Amino acid sequence: MTQEATGAAEAVAEIEVLAKEGKSYPPPDEFKAQALVTDDSMYRAAEEDFEGFWLDQAKELVEWFKEPTKSLEWDPPHCTWFADGELNISYNCLDKHVEAGRGDKVAYHFVPEPIEEEPRAITFAELKDEVCRFANGLKELGVKKGDRVGIYMGMVPELPIAMLACSRIGAPHVVVFGGFSAESLGERMNSTGASVMITQDEARRKGGLIPLKHIADQAVEQHAPSIEKMVVVRRTGGDVPMKDGRDLWWHDLVEGKSTEFEPERMNAEDVLYLLHTSGTTAKPKAAQHTTGGYLAYVAFTHKYVFDIHDDDVWWCAADVGWVTGHSYIVYGPLNNGTTGVLYEGDPTYPDVDRHWAIIEQYKVTQYYTAPTLIRAFIKSGPEPVQRHDLSSLKLLGTVGEPINPEAWLWYWRYVGGERCPVVDTWWQTETGGILISALPGVTTLKPGSATMPLPGVKPAILDEKGKEVPQAQGGFLVLKKPWPGIFRTLWDDDERYVSNYFSKYGPDTYFVGDGARQDDDGYYWLLGRIDDVMNVSGHRLSTIELESALVAHEAVAEAAAAAAPDDLTGQTPLCFVILKSGYEPSDELAKELREWVGEQIGKIARPKAVIFGADLPKTRSGKIMRRLLKDIAEGKELGDTTTLRDPDIVEELKERADELLGRSGASA
Ligand code: PRX
Repeated sequence: MTQEATGAAEAVAEIEVLAKEGKSYPPPDEFKAQALVTDDSMYRAAEEDFEGFWLDQAKELVEWFKEPTKSLEWDPPHCTWFADGELNISYNCLDKHVEAGRGDKVAYHFVPEPIEEEPRAITFAELKDEVCRFANGLKELGVKKGDRVGIYMGMVPELPIAMLACSRIGAPHVVVFGGFSAESLGERMNSTGASVMITQDEARRKGGLIPLKHIADQAVEQHAPSIEKMVVVRRTGGDVPMKDGRDLWWHDLVEGKSTEFEPERMNAEDVLYLLHTSGTTAKPKAAQHTTGGYLAYVAFTHKYVFDIHDDDVWWCAADVGWVTGHSYIVYGPLNNGTTGVLYEGDPTYPDVDRHWAIIEQYKVTQYYTAPTLIRAFIKSGPEPVQRHDLSSLKLLGTVGEPINPEAWLWYWRYVGGERCPVVDTWWQTETGGILISALPGVTTLKPGSATMPLPGVKPAILDEKGKEVPQAQGGFLVLKKPWPGIFRTLWDDDERYVSNYFSKYGPDTYFVGDGARQDDDGYYWLLGRIDDVMNVSGHRLSTIELESALVAHEAVAEAAAAAAPDDLTGQTPLCFVILKSGYEPSDELAKELREWVGEQIGKIARPKAVIFGADLPKTRSGKIMRRLLKDIAEGKELGDTTTLRDPDIVEELKERADELLGRSGASA
């Protein structure tokens, strides 16, 4: 059912007209007729009996070895959920379905990046066997309940298998996204005290190869002495050196292992995993997620936000290395017994229509991705979408950054054929699951708004003093009550947990770090980060991380970073650098510094431009005026510069930034 091709420019013009209409979108009739939730009963139930509502959900969606009788116990800022319950997550994701006779159902359609390679369907029964074999392998290496296990892999089936094996043993996993550098990886392994790490020879990406094992070797040798064993998946067959006594092949480790492994009885509050995210300091912090509350919450949000039915084919196109993948590729969907797509590679490989080809082939019913990707699709126009029959789609979702109404409308029209609700889901690594989003059979959608809090979620928007701002006025987003998926602390740093999230407005108010406003209808509009954290392609990056990477280079005396807006990635890092004496600014050095940051942190952090200056905009007392750097990065008129030690500096930096970013000069 391919439609007539529409040109990219023509489509954008049409969408701009639509956006100006400012229409809202009630649930389409056809969708509503089959939706799981079509009225406000869930919202009311959560309102009437908050604790009872969540306890019921936890019992309904999760199978417990020992059912909890407790719901929320709150001693602000800490909380526990279902604390007397006992369960095992891999049991819920695997055995539960096999025991119920659904073992032959496909858990993952694994789609390798090379089109010539055969895709592989993995059933729940097969996944369970693989998980048990690998859990037995990990046990042989000495991994036991409570031990941290590092995972640094591409999107291959062994990645969820490794995570589930850890959860079967009760060993918290620490997954590091495969795009991170050796230094970032090593630091994350070291600070969490992981002794075993799992990686693969090479990952496939955009037709090329990423030398994961090589990077892992560097990480261990230079930064993470705690790693004693490294398990390596053979994915490409590339020639990788194996260190005697430390490295083992995955296939050798699982050889002859039993497909039985008794799942550990875990308390609801035992740690499931640690996952790092950027904050406002140079070192990333590891959010600590627990077993019972987290599982209940991702199961609930996956089922109801995406309206998941038994025969659906779900595709969350994120990477498992980020929280989105943890919650909505692995734990939520598997707990719910949902068939999912696991795609290894790049969305534009070998052509820009790869995702649409996959949706058509597997008859995907719900597709979940980031606004950045949608903006990239818009650039190539609707034609690659229209080459494919996407009539299987029922619902679309977005996550990671605010979606501009134009991108929302394009997605709605060209991908969803105007019949699929588009749910814009707001959440964070720390929140574990979605907090603000439509329920698609209930909520009238407004393009660009994440709409309303989910049942039981209690946001507020406060001013600097902690007073609620009047509707339509922007302020700081907070959450006034815990939800089951909230992280319980930061690994080994409860003090930072308290000071980062629960000190601005007191211990019972979670400080999100995002700005937001509510419109006259009470809809939430997210306004981006309000701290020194930027959002690049839906991923968090702190300015201080960038700055510390830069000053670690021998040529750099001082550095500052700010976020510039970017059509594609939302924001992009812009760096200002003062060189040490003996070094001269040059295009080559700028390029070297960009690459350097990429090597230090990961490619995603590579600055769009490096701007050399004689100084940074500083006050007479020597404090960097970040507000001015922000104005420069955003291409705005410069704010007040009279308090600067040298006002000319900032003009020079601005000119250079406008030139490098191809701007004609100051804009609004
Ligand atoms: O600024 C918000 C933005 O991403 C941040 C969380 O980033 P991270 O922990 O990496 O998790 C990303 C995936 C859940 C938030 O503080 N963000 C996330 N989703 C949205 C969003 N901003 C606006 N709208 C969203 N839907």
